[in-house]
Amino acid sequence: MAREFTSVGVVGLGTMGAGIVEVFARNGIDVVAVEISAAALERGRVTLTGSTDRAVAKGKLAEADRDALLSRVNFQVGLDALHSVDLVIEAVPEHLDLKQRIFAELDRVCKPEAILATNTSSLSVTEISVATTRPNQVIGIHFFNPAPVMKLVEVVRTVVTSAEVVADVEALCERLGKVDVTINDRAGFIANALLFGYLNHAVSMFESRYATREDIDAAMKLGCGLPMGPLALMDLIGLDTAYEILDTMYRRGGRDRRHAPVPLIKQMVTAGLLGRKSGRGFYTYERAGSPVVVPDEQTPVASESALADGARGIAKVGVVGSGTMATGIIEVFAKAGYEVVSVTRGAEKSAKVFESVKTSLNKGVVRGKLSEADRDAALGRINWSATLEHLADVDLVVEAVVEELSVKKALFASLDEICKPGVVLATTTSSLPVIDVAMATQRPADVVGLHFFNPAPIMPLIEVVQTIRTSAETTTTAKAVCATLGKTGVVCGDRSGFIVNALLFPYLNDAVKMLEASYSTADDIDYAMKLGCGYPMGPFELLDVVGLDVSLAIQRELYLELREPGFAPAPLLEHLVTAGYLGRKSGRGFRDHTRR
Ligand SMILES: NC(=O)c1ccc[n+]([C@@H]2O[C@H](COP(=O)([O-])OP(=O)(O)OC[C@H]3O[C@@H](n4cnc5c(N)ncnc54)[C@H](O)[C@@H]3O)[C@@H](O)[C@H]2O)c1
Repeated sequence: MAREFTSVGVVGLGTMGAGIVEVFARNGIDVVAVEISAAALERGRVTLTGSTDRAVAKGKLAEADRDALLSRVNFQVGLDALHSVDLVIEAVPEHLDLKQRIFAELDRVCKPEAILATNTSSLSVTEISVATTRPNQVIGIHFFNPAPVMKLVEVVRTVVTSAEVVADVEALCERLGKVDVTINDRAGFIANALLFGYLNHAVSMFESRYATREDIDAAMKLGCGLPMGPLALMDLIGLDTAYEILDTMYRRGGRDRRHAPVPLIKQMVTAGLLGRKSGRGFYTYERAGSPVVVPDEQTPVASESALADGARGIAKVGVVGSGTMATGIIEVFAKAGYEVVSVTRGAEKSAKVFESVKTSLNKGVVRGKLSEADRDAALGRINWSATLEHLADVDLVVEAVVEELSVKKALFASLDEICKPGVVLATTTSSLPVIDVAMATQRPADVVGLHFFNPAPIMPLIEVVQTIRTSAETTTTAKAVCATLGKTGVVCGDRSGFIVNALLFPYLNDAVKMLEASYSTADDIDYAMKLGCGYPMGPFELLDVVGLDVSLAIQRELYLELREPGFAPAPLLEHLVTAGYLGRKSGRGFRDHTRR
């Protein structure tokens, strides 16, 4: 029989603690909620009532249930109030000495059989446990932010945590409606070990002005389907907490430079820009504690029209290529009302592309998203050609041919000879330097990257890649075109992986390394990212969809360009590719897809 928990204590009612109190009280458990001062206690109470009031307003909680929930919480200053609880969860700031002091005190105050748990994200649970006389009753219960929403709990056992305590806590998580993964005591556990390198990298992109905060966040939301962008997530976590987590992970996790906190984070913490909780971090919020972002001096100003911003007028667009991307891009432009010239290497290929575009548009008609007349009009706007000469009078060319630099360079040299002055020349390359392509022409200022995502008609994101020679006018034009296509264009520099792949693939590679180190299973790692961070797919699910060979190639590019030791491809990934386990397309990758 698992132990009954009728009363629990929560120490520290900040970002996490207040949410943890809510989780317990919602599930009928009495909570003693403890803070260090009356003022901090009041802040915690306001956070809790704010959250439960919002749940009532949204119709997710009945008023009577909210009142019952709040009546279960006993707010107190000082740890002495915890003398009779069955379990304590500590959620004070991420400092080892502070946590050790609190655990020594809890050991003195709490009844002998009470379980003492920490919500630490990165500190050693073992080191915290030895501050008590009962390390076998000390455990990590790591909730995710916001605790009432995120389903995952990482249960962290040390080498001395008793099996019974682990089982009791696992049963408790189930009672709370959470999914738990039980793991050993390692810096960052599963989710943060995979998350924080990514967050830190995103901050460094922002710090180096590689892209704006809005564009970095939009890229990861729209390109990967994440619930929020990395900088908005940093604000939610709290920059002080994020700094401590990174710093601890750097020191405990083998001094991986990717965890060395980017200097900007420390500067922002020192300046009191802690994120949502202080009302300002990467973004500015309505007030401290509010999730509502308000405009500030960095907010881009939307102007009346793109032409007013200096964009060139684009009416006729050439698309070169006949593969998946070219086909999707032709459809996107034709549907948006542009006159399109499709250039392939022959009538046979053009016929194939025509069929694909027609099939795709027909699907839109069947689903009621497109009228037959609009389909016919879109098809009627496409001119089919097998010669580049037909691009002489287009305003924009989008190149989507094979991913080989020599081929693209030769094509751009031809376009340079054929196209009229003032044309914008765009490449859809996902891995080659745009500047190499630009320098094959006499007009590098007019060359830009337009990195569409697959499938182009569906994915809402386009990365607009500006080289050091791209003119502001060209970039503005490219962004304006994205907007007319109904897509979000995010502007970034010409570096390997642009925004999305540069942030995504190292994380996937880290997940492979974690599996390789036998720290956890593919299933638990996938759960952790989906249920703890709200990702639409776990890393192994995504790797199998993208293809292990493709992922390995991208990771190699990133490693070669940035020379970051932490980006070295995981040996397991290389071995799987060598063995022909490429993911879904070959029937087997991290999982076997031949069995259903
Ligand atoms: N922020 C997140 O997204 C997140 C997610 C999971 C876990 N965690 C972990 O949760 C813990 C708390 O982080 P947070 O972000 O909620 O921090 P926070 O700064 O928002 O809140 C900490 C709270 O602890 C209180 N406190 C400080 N000393 C105390 C004491 N001696 N006694 C009682 N209360 C005290 C503070 O007044 C404050 O309200 C950390 O270990 C952190 O790593 C954070």
